[in-house]
Amino acid sequence: MTILVTGATGTVGRHIVSHLVEAGHAVRALTRNPGKASFPEGVEVVGGDLAATDTLQAAFEGVTAVHLINFGGDDYAPLPNGKEIVDLARKAGVRRVTVLGGWDESTLEPALRDSDLAWTHIRPTEFMSNLLKWADDVRAEGVVREPFGEATTALVHEADIAAVAATALVEDGHGGKVYPLTGPERLTTRDKVRIIGAAIGKEIEFVELTPEQARERMAAQGMPQELIDFMIEVFGNVPEEANRVNSVVLDVTGHAPRTFAQWAAENADSFR
Ligand SMILES: NC(=O)c1ccc[n+]([C@@H]2O[C@H](COP(=O)([O-])OP(=O)(O)OC[C@H]3O[C@@H](n4cnc5c(N)ncnc54)[C@H](OP(=O)(O)O)[C@@H]3O)[C@@H](O)[C@H]2O)c1
Repeated sequence: MTILVTGATGTVGRHIVSHLVEAGHAVRALTRNPGKASFPEGVEVVGGDLAATDTLQAAFEGVTAVHLINFGGDDYAPLPNGKEIVDLARKAGVRRVTVLGGWDESTLEPALRDSDLAWTHIRPTEFMSNLLKWADDVRAEGVVREPFGEATTALVHEADIAAVAATALVEDGHGGKVYPLTGPERLTTRDKVRIIGAAIGKEIEFVELTPEQARERMAAQGMPQELIDFMIEVFGNVPEEANRVNSVVLDVTGHAPRTFAQWAAENADSFR
């Protein structure tokens, strides 16, 4: 029984790989650059491009469960070939599928809905690791500059997202479910800054930007306009699902979700 993990070099995928390996499963990791990727011992590495179905034959051979990302490419373009991937998975004998998605669907989700595969939609709120974007300014100047200091999110640790996906890949009973994932608490932007400061033993200054200043800053950093609009919209008006703490991580994995203080302690060196 081989489990295929796509996005295996990514923020969540690499935790899924570790989780499955530690639990003793046979894991095959897909990457576009097998020569560059490094995985735990025992992981079978396979080359392939998710957006090019004809490169995926070897990856799916003998696979019974697969974790899928729903984009293909560094610009996160939605996968155009979802139906072909689902057909390939069915022919290979796949039974369980997890999909990590954002707000928008690709062609993958409708193709899975139309199939007889047991698939689980993993829908995390804000990843704790997003806040590594503050690391350069904290190291250089001891400051975080953001808009919406009082906006709250129930952000989630990437290892908890992975633990939920890994469970759904190896256990029955998760097919047809949508799992919105949050951490254990709602935190304001100011709270997040304070908690990182506590982890590095240093007070971090918080400079609240106006939305207009934030737009200019993100544009100067080279962020695409679409992403800038998305960030301002989401943090100016955080969706209910991202703000309401839920118990899915605990219910699915049997473990309480990790706190942001734990994440900050694990990642303190990035901010020092
Ligand atoms: N950040 C958040 O707060 C947040 C919240 C909710 C949902 N999400 C969703 O989470 C997803 C991003 O997950 P992540 O942060 O774990 O990803 P990530 O760290 O950005 O990693 C991207 C991964 O995708 C792989 N990849 C990209 N194009 C590929 C292709 N054509 N073929 C095969 N592999 C390809 C890369 O592998 P190689 O380079 O090795 O090929 C890499 O492993 C997005 O769907 C996003 O919408 C994010």
